[in-house]
Amino acid sequence: MHETPKTHERARVLTGDRPTGPLHLGHYVGSLKNRVRLQEDYEVFIIVADVQALTTHLKESGHIKEATKEVCLDYLAVGVDPNATTIFVQSQVPEIAELTVFFSMLVKLSFLRHNPTIKTEALEKGLGEDLTYGFFGYPISQAADITFLKARLVPVGEDQIPHIEQTREIVRKFNRLYGPVLVEPKALVGDVPRLIGLDGKLKMSKSYNNAIFLKDPPELVRRKVFQAVTDPARIHPTDPGHPDICTVFAYHKVFNEHEVPEIEGSCKAGKLRCVDCKANLSSTLNRFLEPIRAKRNAFAEQDGLIWDILGEGTRRARAIGSQTLSQVKEAMGLSYFPKQSPQRVP
Ligand code: TRP
Repeated sequence: MHETPKTHERARVLTGDRPTGPLHLGHYVGSLKNRVRLQEDYEVFIIVADVQALTTHLKESGHIKEATKEVCLDYLAVGVDPNATTIFVQSQVPEIAELTVFFSMLVKLSFLRHNPTIKTEALEKGLGEDLTYGFFGYPISQAADITFLKARLVPVGEDQIPHIEQTREIVRKFNRLYGPVLVEPKALVGDVPRLIGLDGKLKMSKSYNNAIFLKDPPELVRRKVFQAVTDPARIHPTDPGHPDICTVFAYHKVFNEHEVPEIEGSCKAGKLRCVDCKANLSSTLNRFLEPIRAKRNAFAEQDGLIWDILGEGTRRARAIGSQTLSQVKEAMGLSYFPKQSPQRVP
């Protein structure tokens, strides 16, 4: 019998999140689901981008460690397998910071200034004059997150595409100047690139206060669903509804696909009351979230295990990072000394 060699090179995938709070359903459909799926065939790395979290949470840096653990629990809860996927912490990989400095020389300010995601974020957060160099330049640091591992694929939500484009641009420029050292990555957007908020806002986001978190208890999920906006033109339950402009229907389309034709038909016919439609959605979401919550709770009791997983992942990421940085410096002509033997103190 012919066996497939286990040692074949699997392409590398990298993605991650800022540890600024728990992850929500938008994260799940936009990226988490893809990560779980990809870990079978790819070498998946997930970065907990705690340095990037400082761009918006400078004063709350004391909470980042706890949020790092929470985000890691969300990963494990949705099925990220720590034996197949490497989860690591950005601030503990100094090679990323080093690469960021080199990359910052390659990026024109005019390009950064046009990044639509940065513009929207700065505007929404009202940064104005408070805009920092670190915030404005975080796409450069994100390019280092991706390229220090030579990742080929980056599963992300739609808003991250400009950052991946920026990364590709940096890689092309680096390789043109210094030789083919870095890998040009591609974005992989999930089935639902952007989940709308429960309030009908363009996207679900913690900062808009319109999110259902993966760890929300059943009663809270129910309450949030019942507060969701529906078709504003529908005043009486017997009025014909307009599912195409209804937030609740948008969620049925994502999480309750098989009932969609029936819901759509009876809503349009004025035969389905919004309260019943919401009750259906909240049970559907709770059915979906139940095993995720159970797994999360089981892991949450094992604090030591979470830090072991992150520590081991970070060691693995650093081992690759130091190799890439040696190659980068070599290619740039910034390699000065003969290979050093491990730390000798005079
Ligand atoms: N900017 C991403 C977000 O806000 C998080 C992130 C940091 C990331 N580094 C990354 C995503 C590298 C993909 C790849 O969600």
